[in-house]
Amino acid sequence: MDIIKSIPEILEKSKAEFKEIKAGKKHVFDKEIILNPNQRDDTIKNKLYICDNIKAMKDLLDRGYSSKLDLICIDPPFFTKANYSHRVEISDGLKKHVIKPFAYEDTWKNGFIEYLEMITLRLFLMKELLSQRGTIYVHLDSKAVHYVKIIMDYIFGRNRFLNEIIWSYKSGGTGKRSFSRKHDNILVYTKTDSYIFNPQKEKSYNRGLKPYRFKDVKEYEDEVGWYTLVNLKDVWDINMVGRTSSERVGYATQKPEKLLERIILSSTDESSIVADFFTGSGTLASVCENNNRRWIISDMGKVSEVVIRKRLSNKIQSNYEVLSTENDSYSSVELDTNYDENKSIVNIILRKYSIDLEKIELGLEDKEIINTILLNNSLNLIEYIGIGYKDKEGSFIIIKEISRNTKKLNIEENILVSISNLENEMIYLKTIDIIGNITLKKIF
Ligand SMILES: C[S@@+](CC[C@H](N)C(=O)[O-])C[C@H]1O[C@@H](n2cnc3c(N)ncnc32)[C@H](O)[C@@H]1O
Repeated sequence: MDIIKSIPEILEKSKAEFKEIKAGKKHVFDKEIILNPNQRDDTIKNKLYICDNIKAMKDLLDRGYSSKLDLICIDPPFFTKANYSHRVEISDGLKKHVIKPFAYEDTWKNGFIEYLEMITLRLFLMKELLSQRGTIYVHLDSKAVHYVKIIMDYIFGRNRFLNEIIWSYKSGGTGKRSFSRKHDNILVYTKTDSYIFNPQKEKSYNRGLKPYRFKDVKEYEDEVGWYTLVNLKDVWDINMVGRTSSERVGYATQKPEKLLERIILSSTDESSIVADFFTGSGTLASVCENNNRRWIISDMGKVSEVVIRKRLSNKIQSNYEVLSTENDSYSSVELDTNYDENKSIVNIILRKYSIDLEKIELGLEDKEIINTILLNNSLNLIEYIGIGYKDKEGSFIIIKEISRNTKKLNIEENILVSISNLENEMIYLKTIDIIGNITLKKIF
């Protein structure tokens, strides 16, 4: 089908669907709250949705978030027609193995039109959530960008187009029958003409790398030579997250924190709420934590959830809630507990972890590796543990988080939890394994 000819139809259909969703019935979510010991008060400002982002955005509209988000920054699938995986290192006690469970797909049965329908409907929802000072950044590649540009011109208005940022990098293959493709495209639109914009600075090296010594122009010197600071241009040279980078979490399309930091610092202030509805490994939340911004993120992948929780548990400063819709459980954990009444401390000793591998889609090689580990060191498969209690509404309140040690590739098996003030509560333990299987067990 002719893509150009179908764009008006895609727009009309998506607009009608958007109106239906807005007026439709509310979704019900399982709720968890992660209380971080580093946060001084108990306010919950941040949200992680594990579901299709349509449900997440509908829920935000139902909760009164219409026109509340100052920045939406998304990195959706680009119509690459590929499947993406997550790289995980695991140990059987003697040897290290690498498995690559499926993370998400960017394949479309009905081709590019189906892809455009997916993104168009969601862009209508995002516009509704964007504040009057808000900006949206949509990360694409050179093949999808021109079509999405036309769609965004329609939804946001041609005169609300602010920039096309070219993110250029060195990584990736070399072109043999074309120029090597070394950039992504980021479309930037604002909701109105009064948007937040804080110009960022970058280095501009002097000709000959020598000082100019102009009157009233500040000059600096580094190991390359002399430079001045100028307002950031729309071509950004930032390295991809490399194999040895300390921020790397193994998620196939993880974006560099520096890229998101530029966007956040340019288009928000400290009172802003920032959202990413295709969050993958949770890079946006991680950068928001570094820069004291409130965040809302969503992803529908099982693997994405465990990657995000681990990433945040290692660094997070603030409380957040997790809202999810589906929870199939194909795994179980065996453990013992002892309670020290005088000190109000529960000692949890993990014994064994099992997964029903029949129910899980995995490559043959990965399945064999996991099977070996299940037989020998099954606890090494647990990536994340949350311990807490259920409040009156049935929400699970996590007071202690533990994640698998990235160097030793194992999880703490002997856990002490202080439950003073929680003597009347039932205590639960949640595990999520390296491929995203969840267990929730009452332990006390
Ligand atoms: C390109 S990746 C994002 C990577 C991310 N920027 C990072 O730094 O890790 C796109 C993500 O969108 C998610 N996704 C795709 N369609 C979605 C949908 N309808 N709702 C929620 N998440 C979706 C995929 O699971 C995938 O994790």
